[in-house]
Amino acid sequence: MKLAPSILASDFARLGDELRAIESADWAHVDVMDGQFVPNISFGLPILAAARAASPLFMDVHLMIDRPERYLRDFADAGADGLTIHVESTAHVHRAVQQIRELGKKAGVTLNPGTPLEVLRPVLADVDLILIMSVNPGFGGQKFIPHSLERIRTVRRWLDEIGSAAELQVDGGVSATNARAVVAAGASNLVAGSAVFGRDGAQAGLERLREALK
Ligand code: DX5
Ligand code: ZN
Repeated sequence: MKLAPSILASDFARLGDELRAIESADWAHVDVMDGQFVPNISFGLPILAAARAASPLFMDVHLMIDRPERYLRDFADAGADGLTIHVESTAHVHRAVQQIRELGKKAGVTLNPGTPLEVLRPVLADVDLILIMSVNPGFGGQKFIPHSLERIRTVRRWLDEIGSAAELQVDGGVSATNARAVVAAGASNLVAGSAVFGRDGAQAGLERLREALK
């Protein structure tokens, strides 16, 4: 079970401290938004490079950008360990997955809550991570969409059927209230932004999530 705090919800003016506060986590989740694929702009390469320099955590980069194939090498060079692309963001999902692998990085594929899961099947055996979005991408702090649990169960079954050890990550509205149910549905990797950085500091936030998973 891996926890991947999303630095989107962190205090950017104190990014180094925030990353130290999540050092006991498994991954740092880095949400890149371009104002095109999603309605919001977050941050890009220089912030990833700064986070990389400040932390030994696995940098799990979630690309919410149009035609991500244009920037895969740049994000790899800036310090990404894993790169996750949206099936809706490119006509060439399979090629992009190959490119990520050729860069020596972990390849992830994700899809919006309204996109049929079937699009995953052709790439299922070729990826290191499937991300089920449990909110519409673009903003932190949204409510978990309950139907996501059914989608997690389906993809868990598909991965098990082919004997895949790929991570099954879930992102959006994950909190101490629903983390157990998300893991019970088959997730191996939880992204959490506001639930970690939200109230009384990241250490307390992480602790609440771990308690909920016990
Ligand atoms: C949403 C992002 C998420 C977001 C999660 O577009 O992909 O990673 O940071 O934030 P919370 O956990 O607050 O829903
Ligand atoms: Zn994300």
